[in-house]
Amino acid sequence: MTHPKEERTFVLVKPDGVMRGLVGEVLTRFEKRGLKIIALKMVWPTAEHINKHYPSHDEWFKSVGSRTKEFFDGKKINVNEHFGTDDVVEIGKQVKSWLADYLTAGPVVAMVIEGMHAISTVRKIVGHTYPIEALPGTIRGDYSVDTPSAANVEKRVVKNIVHASGNQEESSHEIEHWFSPEEIHDYKRAEEDIMF
Ligand code: RTP
Ligand code: MG
Repeated sequence: MTHPKEERTFVLVKPDGVMRGLVGEVLTRFEKRGLKIIALKMVWPTAEHINKHYPSHDEWFKSVGSRTKEFFDGKKINVNEHFGTDDVVEIGKQVKSWLADYLTAGPVVAMVIEGMHAISTVRKIVGHTYPIEALPGTIRGDYSVDTPSAANVEKRVVKNIVHASGNQEESSHEIEHWFSPEEIHDYKRAEEDIMF
């Protein structure tokens, strides 16, 4: 088993985050928490690279689609009017088809973060997928306000500044998809002996 302090996760500052000058702010939040940046680069990704970054199985389409449908239902907006269906897998597929437009709109900053339960810790720092729902104090909750009810009308996905792996399977796939082993570095942060 990997030691909890050696867990790795993958993070992207998405094009809206880069274009808004939020790269430093995002990095700072991870560093301050005691997490270690072990790989970092700027890339302007292709649509193919993005399509392979996000999963393409029904379970993922279902999770993205059902979260979207629940949001529309909660706002008493007919999801069918925007998506032409209320099948959550189909909704998830449409969302995925818009993701490549969003993530190829400019360069992104890709990184690997290592540290104590890095996957869940980073997700907490990042906040809820939909900025309108994200709590103040999180990256999305402090710097963004987008929502599916505005985005999906314009046939685009919700803009939310960062991506962070959702689980171990995603993190392994994403780290390998974006970085070669030589681009990932092993070093010690000064705080390690003091913080934990
Ligand atoms: P991420 O993967 O980007 O860290 O975000 P997440 O796990 O919180 O969300 P996920 O379900 O994996 O969705 C991936 C990205 O798709 C966009 N999205 N838009 N209805 C919508 O407009 C919608 N649903 C999802 C977001 O950019 C989300 O981060
Ligand atoms: Mg995700």
